[in-house]
Amino acid sequence: MEKYNKIYSSYNVSEDIKPSQILSLVWKNFLPNSKILDLGCGQGIDSLFLAKNDFSVIAIDSSDVAVNQIKIKKDEFKLDNLELICGDINDFNIEKNKYQVIICRNVLNFLDKGKALKILNSLKDNIQKGSYIIIEIFTKDDPSFFSDNKFASYFEEQELLNIFSGYKIFYYLENIILDPGHPGFPGPHKHGVARIIAQK
Ligand SMILES: C[S@@+](CC[C@H](N)C(=O)[O-])C[C@H]1O[C@@H](n2cnc3c(N)ncnc32)[C@H](O)[C@@H]1O
Repeated sequence: MEKYNKIYSSYNVSEDIKPSQILSLVWKNFLPNSKILDLGCGQGIDSLFLAKNDFSVIAIDSSDVAVNQIKIKKDEFKLDNLELICGDINDFNIEKNKYQVIICRNVLNFLDKGKALKILNSLKDNIQKGSYIIIEIFTKDDPSFFSDNKFASYFEEQELLNIFSGYKIFYYLENIILDPGHPGFPGPHKHGVARIIAQK
């Protein structure tokens, strides 16, 4: 993705390898041999953290800049348990029963709604009972929804929660949050988010 190649080119991968806020809530519950898929991994904060903690991780992102940046860290830390794929998550086939954890944070809004829902259905269909799904998406409460710089799609109030009805909801947040800043938007700003950790 050109936009993200440009953004990541001016940001190094953080030297401090620590998990995203949502992953920090649950990763200690993962079984030691868990295979983990990180869809739209960005600069790999979760993938690198999990691989450093001995999980077997497959990380995919369409930004070759990000994937190459992660590769440098992978080599530095000798993480043979981290597989990197530069590609489109729409084309990635989620093998049935292969993953015990699937992470998809802040990426589905870049797809049109039909494609985002198709991926969510595929995650649900292809993981086995007991596996974790960790999703973060932007809702219509995101300030961008009312701007000229919209994402391709947004989620409605409670929509993510409803998608995972019947699952054990380990964590759910739907709110307007203050984001301290991230690559591409360094200053503090607000986001309308829904975040879920669901266990099948
Ligand atoms: C907002 S960043 C989120 C990165 C990471 N998940 C995180 O939360 O730190 C969105 C990422 O999605 C990637 N992306 C967008 N559309 C994609 C697609 N169709 N396939 C794979 N990656 C995609 C971008 O390259 C970018 O790295």
